[in-house]
Amino acid sequence: MLFITMTAQTTVVLCLLVKAAWGEMKFPPGFRFGAATAAYQIEGSWNVSDKAESVWDRFTHEHKYYVDSGSNGDVACDSYNRWKDDVRIAKELNLHFYRFSISWPRLLPTAFSNKISDDGRNYYNQLIDALLEEGIEPIVTLFHLDLPQRLQDLGGWANPLIIDWFANYARVVFSLYGDRVKTWITINEPLLICEMSYSDSNLAPGIESIELGNYLCAKNVLLAHATAWRIYDEEFRPKYHGKVSLTNILIWYEPTTGNDSNLGNLANQLCNGIYTHPIFSKTGNWPQSVIKIVDERSKLLGYPYSLLPEFTKKEIEFIKGTYDFFGMNYYISKSIRKSLVNEHIPLWPLEGVPILGAILESQPTWTSGATKWFSAHPPGLRKVLNWIRHNYGDQEIYIMENGYATADTELEDFDRISYLKDHLEQVLLAMKDGVNVTRYTIWSLMDNFEWSDGYTIKFGLYEVDFSSPERTRTPRKSAEYYKNVIETHSLSDFYVKNEL
Ligand code: BGC
Repeated sequence: MLFITMTAQTTVVLCLLVKAAWGEMKFPPGFRFGAATAAYQIEGSWNVSDKAESVWDRFTHEHKYYVDSGSNGDVACDSYNRWKDDVRIAKELNLHFYRFSISWPRLLPTAFSNKISDDGRNYYNQLIDALLEEGIEPIVTLFHLDLPQRLQDLGGWANPLIIDWFANYARVVFSLYGDRVKTWITINEPLLICEMSYSDSNLAPGIESIELGNYLCAKNVLLAHATAWRIYDEEFRPKYHGKVSLTNILIWYEPTTGNDSNLGNLANQLCNGIYTHPIFSKTGNWPQSVIKIVDERSKLLGYPYSLLPEFTKKEIEFIKGTYDFFGMNYYISKSIRKSLVNEHIPLWPLEGVPILGAILESQPTWTSGATKWFSAHPPGLRKVLNWIRHNYGDQEIYIMENGYATADTELEDFDRISYLKDHLEQVLLAMKDGVNVTRYTIWSLMDNFEWSDGYTIKFGLYEVDFSSPERTRTPRKSAEYYKNVIETHSLSDFYVKNEL
C-alpha cells in the first residue's frame, strides 16, 4: 500500500515506472510453471481397498508425540476421493504442469510387483487422464517419503536389496503410465529420506542412526535412482521418449563472516553435493571433500574404515550421468559459523553440522516463516543455481519445489506473495547469469499434511478447510498472483494492478 498518501498523478507515474522496470521481468516463452503435492500429504484413505501401510501411517499412529498435535494423513485433503477438485483448481490456475506422487503401498499392496492393486492403478489412471484432458502435464514422483512399512521392517533404505525393490516398483509404474507421463522424478529429496529419517525421530521411520544409517541410505538411494533411470532408458525411452531424474532439496549454506567461507563450501558439499556429485559431475563418486571429512571422523571414532560406504568403480560409472534434467527443491538458506568453545552443536542439516563443528542460524535480515526451520533468503536461490552451474556445467534445471510456510489460514497471504515474487526474481537473475532454468514449481497447490508439523503450517495457494467433510479448497490471494504470473509469463502486471 505504498501509494496511499500520494496524489493520483504521482501514482500513475510511479506505476508506469514500476511497470517499465518490471517489463524486463519476463520469462522466456518455453518456461513452464506448475504446482506440487505428494501422496501421503494429500490423499488420505490410508486403509481403503487393498492399500497397505506406509512408514508414515505407522509413524503417525504409533508415535503421535513426534507430530504436531498428534495429527496424521488418514484423511488429509481427501484427494483420493476429491481428485477432481485438485484438477479443477490446477486448471483454475492455468498450470502448465501438476507434480504429484504415487503411493507405493497403494499401487503395490505387497510392495512387490506380484500384485498390482486395481483401485490403486485406476486412481492414478483417472488423475493422469483428467489432467491431460485439461491440457495440464502430469509430472509424477515415484517416491515421496511413504515407503511400504513391509519394506521398512526389512531395513528400508539401509538394506541394499531396496535397490531392486525400488527398481521393480519403478518398472511397474513406467509400464502403467509411461504412455502418458513424460516427466518423471524417481526419488524426492534423499536428504530428508536419509539424513532426517535415519538420524533422528523427526521424520518416519524415525531411526536414530546418526553417522551410520544415513550414509548406508545415501548409497542405496543413489543406486536405486540410477537403476530406475537405466530401466527407463533401456526399456521405455525408445517408445515413450520421456525424461527422468531425481529431485534434491538444496539448502544454501552462507558463510556468516569471511572466515567461514571454507565451512560454507564444505556444508554445501555435505548437504547438497553428496546427493548430486555422484550423478551430475564428470567424475562421479562422492565429492572428495566429503570422503575426506567422513574418513577423518571415522578414524577419530576408532573405526577401521570410513562410515561413508565406498562405491566400486563399476557403481561410480553406473550412477554417473543418470539424469535428463537437474531436479531441485529450494526453500531456505542457513548462515554457517564455527561453534564457540563448549557450545552445543545441534543436529544436521538445519541447526548445526556436528562433523564440521559448525552452527547454523538465520541472518537478521532474512525472513522467518511459521516453523522454526524456515529462514527465507531469496538470493540463496540464485547462489544455489549458480553453484549447480559451477560444479556440474550447463544443466537444464527444473525447480520442482519452492514455497512459504504461514501459520494461519489467512486468505490475504501477502507474505507468501512476497516470498514467491522475490524468489522468481532471483530465478530470472540466475537466468541472466546464464543458468538454464526451464521450470518452476510451487509447493504447494493446497494446504496439506506437513510431516512433523502436521496441519499447523500452511504452504497452499489454496486454503483447505480441514474441519469440513468436503475439505473445501479456497484460493488465497497468492493463487491470484501466481495465476497472473503464469498468464503474463512475467512478474509485472499484478503489482501495478494491486498497487503493492
Ligand atoms: C518436501 C515436502 C514438504 C515441504 C515443506 C519439502 O522438503 O518435499 O514434502 O511438504 O518440504 O515442508
